[in-house]
Amino acid sequence: MASILSPEDRLAELKAFDETKAGVKGLVDAGIREIPRIFIHPPETFHNNSFSCLEIVPTIDLSSTNRSSTVEKIRTASEDVGIFYVTNHGIPMNVMDEMLNGVRRFHEQDAEVKKKFYSRDESKALMYDSNFDLFFSPAAGWRDSIASIMAPTPPPYEELPEVCRDILIEYSNDVKKLGVVLFRLVSEALGLDPDYLGNIDCDKGFRFLGHYYPACPQPDLTVGTPKHTDASFLTVLLQDEIGGLQILHQDQWVDVPPVPGSLVVNVGDLLQLISNDKLKSVEHRVVANGKEPRVSVVCFFRSLSSSRAYGPLEEFVSSDNPPRYRGTTIRDYFNYTLNKALDNIPRLQRLKL
Ligand code: OGA
Ligand code: NI
Repeated sequence: MASILSPEDRLAELKAFDETKAGVKGLVDAGIREIPRIFIHPPETFHNNSFSCLEIVPTIDLSSTNRSSTVEKIRTASEDVGIFYVTNHGIPMNVMDEMLNGVRRFHEQDAEVKKKFYSRDESKALMYDSNFDLFFSPAAGWRDSIASIMAPTPPPYEELPEVCRDILIEYSNDVKKLGVVLFRLVSEALGLDPDYLGNIDCDKGFRFLGHYYPACPQPDLTVGTPKHTDASFLTVLLQDEIGGLQILHQDQWVDVPPVPGSLVVNVGDLLQLISNDKLKSVEHRVVANGKEPRVSVVCFFRSLSSSRAYGPLEEFVSSDNPPRYRGTTIRDYFNYTLNKALDNIPRLQRLKL
């Protein structure tokens, strides 16, 4: 059990695992039947079993011509649950499929080629690792990831992995356009001018992540991604057909199953912060599964190159409703989250007044 692993032994196991540069996929390929102790989560993690209820996570059709109804749906979804599906979002089905395939190709390619990208250095054009918080989280998640800042300026083409660079660029261009649409709608949902959030750069940049969750021999002992909120304004998520994403809603884990053709959009910490808690950064996680690998693609909207400080907007502050957070630059907040495990303490807590 994780509890009898001494800190020294744990560190040694983490280092040994990290040095393989083969991630969780490497363990599975080696044929392990039992998961290493560093991945075992405490039993509390598995309380409150999930239930499915599609009505909790609404679907918003972006092709609707009834704008005021769309804005209203986005407002209630972002205030009540912090997450919604979008359909007719403008990203073609073949681009979404090829993006998922590209991430799968990266993770399933020859281990020696993949190893060259393995790094925890954030300044790399493309970073491949397993668990960004491996060395400071209480227990590791059953996943490997690639990450790259794709907007406002993508890395040089040659520095992106050959197996997915074309689709990564194409998909990112589409997500950029979708971001403009979404932030206009969210601005209106907040009662602001449609250009408001764009004018303060919320839609200007994003970081791409391509997760690979290998099939797990003991899925009841670990999780893919532990409970957390996102350090973004908005997150756009594309998941394959496997499932496993859940949100914590009124103390219950609720499944957010894949719906073909749709994307999942969730509110992140920075939108909760600037709206002074009007919008809700939803807690979510990914459970492990014993059957098949799962692939997901996540774009975190936030522009790391912006020097702007973000605090609660004056529109959401009054004498009755004082600011609930201190302001921050995105860089400061990001640096903090990079060194903060996905544990039980919400990251936004740090800025609470
Ligand atoms: C994340 C995340 C969900 C998923 O990367 O922050 O929540 O489905 N990912 O992979
Ligand atoms: Ni997340």
